[in-house]
Amino acid sequence: MAEHGSVNNRVHIFSDENELFERCAGRIVEIGTSAIAERGNFHFALAGGTTPQGLYRRLSEPRLASELDWTRCQIFFGDERAVPPDHRDSNYRMAREALLDHIVLPAENIHPISTEKELQEAARDYGHLLKTALPHDGGRMPVFDLILLGMGADGHVASLFPGTDILAKKNTPVAAVYVEKLEAWRISLTLPAINHARHVLILVSGEKKADIVRHVLGGMPETNPLPVQRIHPSGELEWYLDAAAAHYLHGTFEQ
Ligand code: 6PG
Repeated sequence: MAEHGSVNNRVHIFSDENELFERCAGRIVEIGTSAIAERGNFHFALAGGTTPQGLYRRLSEPRLASELDWTRCQIFFGDERAVPPDHRDSNYRMAREALLDHIVLPAENIHPISTEKELQEAARDYGHLLKTALPHDGGRMPVFDLILLGMGADGHVASLFPGTDILAKKNTPVAAVYVEKLEAWRISLTLPAINHARHVLILVSGEKKADIVRHVLGGMPETNPLPVQRIHPSGELEWYLDAAAAHYLHGTFEQ
């Protein structure tokens, strides 16, 4: 494993997905344990998509899951597709199947984004939930202990896709967004909500992401920053990559 970067923007590169998931799961347990010790709760927003599935399965293994007091964990979602909770594309369903159904976590500690109502209303309601359930920075933004993100090959995170209007949201933590390229609606945390987190972990694996990783971490000037390049949390940003995704970073970071 190789570590690089500044204090609040560290890049961890692991030999393969197995090591990536093991070490990222360990880091989540570490962040959760200290959040519970310091503040009594761990407010954790899960990522969707496919990459985190392997991580969630690893985290659900008793040897790791037993290290975290899940009764003190409040589980949220970074984004959701506009599908029912049992739909194959649902991030909630994916997280249930890979993690939440396999750990001792009270049902009331799981906070899915409702997709059974009008999407703008669902986004407003989730924003209200975050305002009541999470500590705030004194402003209007909830403060998560940890937001886990994946990254698309186009540099999107959560459902913050390039060129979408949600990127301009400044005063709301959650919004509905129509994603032209997907011809689909999503509900997502906004940039200010993500940037108010104490920790953001961006998990990226596989050679298909090597180009975008080079673009984002390879030292190119940020002329027209992609959504992921606008993630500058007031807390700590850590990248968890496997060697395949970090393929072009040789030379930027010693391996
Ligand atoms: C989603 C995710 C999304 C995902 C990236 C990467 O709902 O799809 O929130 O932001 O993290 O698209 O997805 P993969 O891990 O499937 O490559």
